[in-house]
Amino acid sequence: MDDFVCTFLDPPLRPSIDPKHVLSGNFAPVDELPPTACAVVEGSLPPCLLGGAYIRNGPNPRFAPCGPHHLFDGDGMLHVITFTSPDEPTFCSRYVKTYKYTVEQKTGHPIFPSVFSSFNGLAASILRGLLTVARVVTRQFDPVANGFGLASINVALIGGHLFALGESDLPYAMKVTPNGDVITLGRHDFFSDEPFSIMTAHPKMDPQTGEAFSFRYHVIPPFLTLFIIDPNGKKQRDVPIFSMRSTSLTHDLAVTRNYVVIPDIQLVMDFMEIAKGRPPARVDLDKVPRIGVIPKYAEDESELVWIEAHGLNVIHFSNAWEEDGGETIVMVAPNPTFVEHALDRLDLARPIIEKIVINVKAKTLVRHPLSNQVLDMGIINPTYAGKKNRYVYAGIVAQPMMLVGVVKIDLSAEDSVSGGGTVASRLYRPGCSGSELSFVPREPGNPAAEEDDGYLVTYVHDENTQESHFIVMDAKSPTLETVAAVKLPGRVPTGFHGLFIKESDLNKL
Ligand SMILES: [Fe+2]
Repeated sequence: MDDFVCTFLDPPLRPSIDPKHVLSGNFAPVDELPPTACAVVEGSLPPCLLGGAYIRNGPNPRFAPCGPHHLFDGDGMLHVITFTSPDEPTFCSRYVKTYKYTVEQKTGHPIFPSVFSSFNGLAASILRGLLTVARVVTRQFDPVANGFGLASINVALIGGHLFALGESDLPYAMKVTPNGDVITLGRHDFFSDEPFSIMTAHPKMDPQTGEAFSFRYHVIPPFLTLFIIDPNGKKQRDVPIFSMRSTSLTHDLAVTRNYVVIPDIQLVMDFMEIAKGRPPARVDLDKVPRIGVIPKYAEDESELVWIEAHGLNVIHFSNAWEEDGGETIVMVAPNPTFVEHALDRLDLARPIIEKIVINVKAKTLVRHPLSNQVLDMGIINPTYAGKKNRYVYAGIVAQPMMLVGVVKIDLSAEDSVSGGGTVASRLYRPGCSGSELSFVPREPGNPAAEEDDGYLVTYVHDENTQESHFIVMDAKSPTLETVAAVKLPGRVPTGFHGLFIKESDLNKL
């Protein structure tokens, strides 16, 4: 039946759901790779990496799609380099063994529907919907009890445990073994006392308290619910946000000393679209995006302030902090200039990094572009999460998700939009693209260390040689020079978010 729908009912596939396009080049999936020793081929690894691991998540479809396939449809795969030895790190690629992965592995082909690609024309949408109902009724799979997510978006440490996350399901607990292998421990509900089956892929850790501030969105009211996971990894009670007027595909939140900041964006979930033969995830250009500010420990939404912000659709926050005794919130975030392309033509969305200043009392918001380059995946020294910081490191976007270089922006520079804030930059070699960066402080325990005294680490793939490397860049260098490179024994496909875990955290997993 799946083949019948793909062959006879699907209209011609748009580039964004045509697997020949979506899975081309370095978006093509790879096989799992067991822990394999690899060689340092340039420079030497800084001591601050030793004993730790860099982990990057991303989509990697287990089965070749027989029909429409969106970039967001691939099964999660973790690519992990573990620095157990200064000269011979270990690299490993493993699927996140989600419920979806496990069921389809037994079935031998993909059977779970996708909100991004399954609804392609009315006839195909109806038949795929009926097929899904039939499979659930005949117990081929049970998404209500077990979820249906891919865990392909992000990795996070919550309550001292490692998780692979995707916002359509609960996180999956993961473990990196002493020999560098990666094991899926299972779907995790954080010991919730309430029904709980979905969570953002971007919970925000509060370094002061060890809490994780999180949320989930729904297709019925309340369309958004905030909650905290305590330092022991137990979920606290829900704070429903009924003033969220529809299902916003809110992807990230920010946490400052006293507040949580929530974007209400123009990416929405609208199931009426299915009746038109279109995917329910869409861009609503008639909606006015908003930024919500609520006290961190609010028990309800009575103190939530919404501020309208035309044209501001924050997908990811790089950082946020308070000034003026908490009257002002400053946020740094990439914002897609052309949000209408954010789901279908990512290459045309053109994100620009902005500094956004909110006056909480006056309920006003002022925006300052920080660069005229197309930049995304902005990160900071994690020591400064939730605190005022000076430097943001971001990827230079050439094609969707493909970062062909790195810039370092000094937020204290006044003429940032004309390029004055860019204090360091580099391009990778032609044909190379990198993953999201992670910043690793050179002296993690030194409170007097300068903010940029550390290293930027990432995976870079070279399309010319078909080789992937893990590279370490000096964050203080004006050219962000490479101080070490490790040739990897496997290819790392273009993907989503990454994280460096230091030795002491890795050992507790
Ligand atoms: Fe994300």
